[in-house]
Amino acid sequence: MAQASGRIAGKTAFVTGGASGLGLDIVRRFVAEGASVVIADIDAGAGEALAADLGQRFVRLDVSREEQWLAALGTCENIDILVNNAGITTHGSIEELTLEAFRHEFSVDVDGVFLGCKHVIPKMKDRGGSVINMSSMCGVRAQADLAAYNAAKAAVTHLTKSVALHYARKGYGMRCNSVHPGAIHTPILEKVMAQVADGRALYESWVATHPLGRLGRPEEISAIVLYLASDESAFATGAEFRIDGGSSL
Ligand SMILES: NC(=O)c1ccc[n+]([C@@H]2O[C@H](COP(=O)([O-])OP(=O)(O)OC[C@H]3O[C@@H](n4cnc5c(N)ncnc54)[C@H](O)[C@@H]3O)[C@@H](O)[C@H]2O)c1
Repeated sequence: MAQASGRIAGKTAFVTGGASGLGLDIVRRFVAEGASVVIADIDAGAGEALAADLGQRFVRLDVSREEQWLAALGTCENIDILVNNAGITTHGSIEELTLEAFRHEFSVDVDGVFLGCKHVIPKMKDRGGSVINMSSMCGVRAQADLAAYNAAKAAVTHLTKSVALHYARKGYGMRCNSVHPGAIHTPILEKVMAQVADGRALYESWVATHPLGRLGRPEEISAIVLYLASDESAFATGAEFRIDGGSSL
């Protein structure tokens, strides 16, 4: 990780899906840069262990559940930075996917972002702040075998723009941007590989779609999330930040 220099010192951040993968790296980087971080995750075991390790606070949250959002945010006085990062990836084409699986994908990846962008407003609007939504390269470029995930991440992209316009129109001083990683080495990749017959071949196909010839690393994503969380990005809102090794080209 790059040398920390207090770029978000004194700010309070709320990171969903903060117990693993990209969220975990974002949490570590935010703490190193001086923020207080609320780690929100459905996985209480991993979340509590990380919070204890870093001296931060954990709240259990299923992002698809509105009442849990209200309870979790109710434990926070103010929030300066919200990272709507929690997500799942359901493998399958339009022919293979059930409606139930499609809806489950949307309940986490889209409902979760909708609820965060909505219910954080009372915690942020009097002081301004930054909302960062984790979309994906898959929200830009489609794959036949990721129909639900493609649709969900594309929805996050456009929801972000509508939210950004609303925050601006209201003069809340709040910004909202989306981040679009290519394939990054995190546990989510293992979960997707476990859904298919030949996980290794799937992995090789991911590498092949990245012109830079490799997958990304979590710190290459948390770097841009830190930029969006900090005041350095004060003029950025409603924008798509692609960090994908060229895979969306
Ligand atoms: N890793 C990649 O290649 C990649 C690429 C593009 C986008 N993304 C996106 O980045 C985000 C993080 O992915 P990751 O790779 O770190 O995955 P991960 O599986 O390592 O971590 C996801 C975290 O979200 C949590 N989570 C899952 N469902 C939840 C729910 N309903 N409520 C609250 N928490 C929940 C999990 O417990 C876990 O801690 C996701 O939105 C994912 O779609 C990942």
